[in-house]
Amino acid sequence: MTSEDRITALRMLAEEASECTRCPLHEGRTHVVFGDGNPRADLMFIGEGPGRHEDEQGLPFVGRSGQLLSTLLERVGLSRTDVYIANVVKCRPPGNRDPRPDEIAACKSYLAEQIRLIDPAAVVTLGNFSTKLLLKTETGITRMRGRAYPWWNRHVVPTFHPAAALRNGPRVVEEMVTDLQLATRIIAERPSAPDGETAREPEQTALFS
Ligand code: URA
Repeated sequence: MTSEDRITALRMLAEEASECTRCPLHEGRTHVVFGDGNPRADLMFIGEGPGRHEDEQGLPFVGRSGQLLSTLLERVGLSRTDVYIANVVKCRPPGNRDPRPDEIAACKSYLAEQIRLIDPAAVVTLGNFSTKLLLKTETGITRMRGRAYPWWNRHVVPTFHPAAALRNGPRVVEEMVTDLQLATRIIAERPSAPDGETAREPEQTALFS
């Protein structure tokens, strides 16, 4: 699959998701927050789910957590246009509650397909929800972070959710910077597959099975 084909497929998937009614979260949403950024990114970030500002604007991480994420990216020499950002669930849980297992189950094939089409060398999981989904673990983020995990011919680098850094202060921010530095080292060592090649491409259905 060429890079152009991937971008077209990603656009079609976003269109499909924009009308999604697979779970009850669609009833309360203003916008589906599919994802944003560089569809050819070597580095992808996965959060939890949209908050109020994201729901209003239809874009991920545009509220306070998003501002911190942008600052963290700058600290490691990246900008939002270098990376791709998505969430585990694409519609806002009411009152910012945690996404439920049935909602995650209904939504996760969108994320699996996003990862397959973008084909990043490293995926940074922000917080417990995305880390547990990808790495199939019950271990909390505090113990998981600080290292990279091989995952479908790429790497997952778990780190805290920016909201945790906003709550807990500079020590958590610095740990997140350390984790992002690790992710940037991985992408420097393992550049993206040449156009047309699908070296890291897993079976989409197997990703979260
Ligand atoms: N928190 C998330 O997990 N995702 C967003 O898009 C915004 C805040």
